[in-house]
Amino acid sequence: MTYKNILLEKKDGIGTIKINRPKVLNALNKDTIIEITNAMIELENDKKINAVILTGEGDKAFIAGADISQMSKMTPLEAKEFAERGHNMLNTIEKSRLPVIAAVNGYALGGGCETLMACDICIAAKSAKLGQPEINLGISPGFGGTQRLPRLVGRMKAKELLLTGRNIDAEEAHCIGLVNMVVDDDKLMETAEKIAGKIASKSSVQTNFIKALVNKGADIDLNTANSLEISYFSSSFSTHDQKEGMKAFLEKKKPEFKGK
Ligand code: CAA
Repeated sequence: MTYKNILLEKKDGIGTIKINRPKVLNALNKDTIIEITNAMIELENDKKINAVILTGEGDKAFIAGADISQMSKMTPLEAKEFAERGHNMLNTIEKSRLPVIAAVNGYALGGGCETLMACDICIAAKSAKLGQPEINLGISPGFGGTQRLPRLVGRMKAKELLLTGRNIDAEEAHCIGLVNMVVDDDKLMETAEKIAGKIASKSSVQTNFIKALVNKGADIDLNTANSLEISYFSSSFSTHDQKEGMKAFLEKKKPEFKGK
């Protein structure tokens, strides 16, 4: 597949999607949203890939939001279709078997902040700025900001950020649990690759199970979620990787997982 608005690289079990519209701070227009969705599906179908890094080209922005010049001309129907495409992209990331690491290299605003919230792990460069400034444009968030943000940081903090449209720096984002860690700008990709590499070396059956259990469990009651955990746990015992992992432990060796 060829892409115009993103760069896709595959190396050592890791797929890296880099949004490549630095002149507009990697703003998400319709085509870019479609390309990110398609790239996720391409990586999902590539059995050699076990983790994904999502980042932005340039040193200024991860994603500065949905494309305002494109949105400014939309009818309500077109805006609905646009929001549905955005949600579909983020659901594709969230439901993917692949753990996705957001490497936030600058502005992550509006649709950019909404994108990192659909990822599994988020690493922010010290200079990153995050927020949901939609209210300043006379709109409310359209790619899940009003829903994923309160689930991550709590309702009160989410409402403060959504209602004021205030941007926060990486340290504050870390304090409220919106990002996992903050690193020096020049260490961002190195850190993301290290974590992705570590995840990619595990059993891909289990990275898939763990991601699915945490995500599915967050939206259902605890009893049902725990039953789901029991069923995934027990089915692990039919896999090669369970036998290999336990045998290697007992023999004091490094396990060789096959993802089956
Ligand atoms: N859409 C389209 N173009 C954008 C953009 C966006 N979201 N963000 C920045 N750009 C463009 C600018 O228009 C500018 O283009 P020109 O050079 O042609 O003028 C270029 O990127 C560089 O931006 P600035 O000159 O503004 O850079 P700056 O350093 O002065 O400011 C900024 C950076 C604070 C991020 C500022 O660009 C900004 O406020 N951007 C908009 C952020 C925003 O409101 N995002 C939310 C969008 S709505 C949304 O995402 C809805 C949703 O939920 C789906």
